[in-house]
Amino acid sequence: MTGVICGTGSSIPVHTMDNNDIAKLVETSDEWIRERTGVVRRHIIEEETTVSMAADAARKALADSGTAPEDVDLILVSTISSNVILPCAACEVQRQIGAVNATCYDMSAACTGFVFGYCAALAYLSCGMYRTILVIGSESLSNLTNWKDRGTCILFGDGAGAAVVKAEEGTFYQPVTHSAGSLGDALTCTSRHARNAAQLPEEELYMQMDGRGVFQFAVRRVPEVIGEVLEKNQVPIGDIDWFVLHQANRRIVEAVAKRLKAPLEKFPMNLQEYGNTSSASIPILLDEMRRDGRLKAGQKIVIAGFGAGLSWGAAILDWTK
Ligand code: UT7
Repeated sequence: MTGVICGTGSSIPVHTMDNNDIAKLVETSDEWIRERTGVVRRHIIEEETTVSMAADAARKALADSGTAPEDVDLILVSTISSNVILPCAACEVQRQIGAVNATCYDMSAACTGFVFGYCAALAYLSCGMYRTILVIGSESLSNLTNWKDRGTCILFGDGAGAAVVKAEEGTFYQPVTHSAGSLGDALTCTSRHARNAAQLPEEELYMQMDGRGVFQFAVRRVPEVIGEVLEKNQVPIGDIDWFVLHQANRRIVEAVAKRLKAPLEKFPMNLQEYGNTSSASIPILLDEMRRDGRLKAGQKIVIAGFGAGLSWGAAILDWTK
């Protein structure tokens, strides 16, 4: 018994900001952003919210998998940027999609969130506790972005992706997950609800990042964790059709491919269109690849995430649709 992705969906805000729009806010240029990150534009919420995008992506994933909302046992929303604190985003999604029989909660693991969410789903499904799980990554990072900081505001975007994961017969691949709280200062954001928030310098209430530090962490740890997950499951690297990585920076993806000595064509990217959407980036990309026909039954995929915490992880899955 394993957890199989039976359907995907995504939800992207209508409004876009291209690099020239960013260059009106901070000292930067389209050329610099494209060269150093690969990002060309990002979608930014106006009317949409983290919850509305999550519900929209969830509805599409349910439709794609032919699942009725009442058949969902668990809704897991990974987010660091919900518009609601109470009730949790997952309960709001439940209300909007009518998944009346689901248990619902949110998880906070930033850009590793979808991978950790999939791992949690895998554990629940393989032990028989639940049979149908909606794993959603939804982010409105524009609310946490310091639009005066060129080191971060060039990177991030908003959006949501969802996957219906069901208990089915198939190979169970052990995922690999890691966290290193001792390195947490590399990527931080203090809650605006902190008791002393009013006394804090404004920038602390937005994301602050040691860009170079996170970059170096990613290019070392991501190939390593992919190696670990392949080794643990005795899967040769050549058997993997797609490496679906968290979409943080084109140069990170290229460096990971190089270190793994795997062809870059196996590393799909859509960060040029969406920027870094944290926990939403992997399910948005999977959904795009499913819709444009790149994903085919019988293919093997590695998903790998990394980010604040610091945290990182990878999982292997068989695509069966
Ligand atoms: O989702 C997971 C979390 N985040 C990440 O994965 C992000 C990982 N890090 C990165 O993607 C990159 O470090 C950044 C894109 C954030 C920055 O790129 P970089 O190549 O690491 O630039 P840098 O910080 O080393 O700065 C290089 C130069 C500096 O100038 P000097 O000191 O060489 O004269 C910066 O002041 O580029 C300058 N710079 C900029 N120039 C124009 C930094 N940001 C900008 C900018 N526009 N936006």
